Amino acid sequence: MLTIALPKGRIGDDSLALFEKIFAKEFRFGERKLILEIDDFRFLRVRNQDVPTYVYHQAADLGVVGLDVLEEKGLDLVRLLDLGFGACSVSIGIKEDEELTFNKPSYRVATKMENITREFFSKKAIPVEIIKLYGSIELAPLVGLADMIVDIVETGETMKQNGLKPALTIMQSSAYFIANKNSFYDKKEKILALRQQLQEALGGA
Ligand code: PRP
Repeated sequence: MLTIALPKGRIGDDSLALFEKIFAKEFRFGERKLILEIDDFRFLRVRNQDVPTYVYHQAADLGVVGLDVLEEKGLDLVRLLDLGFGACSVSIGIKEDEELTFNKPSYRVATKMENITREFFSKKAIPVEIIKLYGSIELAPLVGLADMIVDIVETGETMKQNGLKPALTIMQSSAYFIANKNSFYDKKEKILALRQQLQEALGGA
């Protein structure tokens, strides 16, 4: 049995669609169900940011999650395969009529991705005050809570609708197939076989 943590939303849906393609049967969570068992697989439906936690503590052997979330969590996990879907970037956003400059003594940056943000600015030796938010990040510069934001940009529509623009890309992200280290050693053959099937279903080598 392999337990796989999937995030709610697009990445989770695209992952199940891949399993449907590989095994030619329906893989679908019942309404409000958090566990789906089919053959030798058990899927867990969890919050996006919680996928690495379930896998790290071996409550799941495997998981699918965005590279942005993996980097933000910084847990020691095996990155098995870049699945390619769920593409987005982590970008600095500023007001549409502003330029990105770093000549003030300090900047206030609102984000839900504190670690990625801290690392980016500290590597560049730019002093910032990080303001941790849990959502609606785009609002912060509009009401004077922050000078800029660090947030996910997928289509760019949320920033645009709120008078912001992406000014600099910190990293590109897409969905990764990940494993717990112990699970990987214990169930290596099964996991590598599944990795191969996923790669083939994606049209890769
Ligand atoms: C993300 C992000 C932006 C939006 C960007 O939020 O925080 O608000 O998506 O997407 P766009 O470029 O296509 O407009 P998400 O919907 O993941 O919700 P969350 O804030 O609950 O994480």
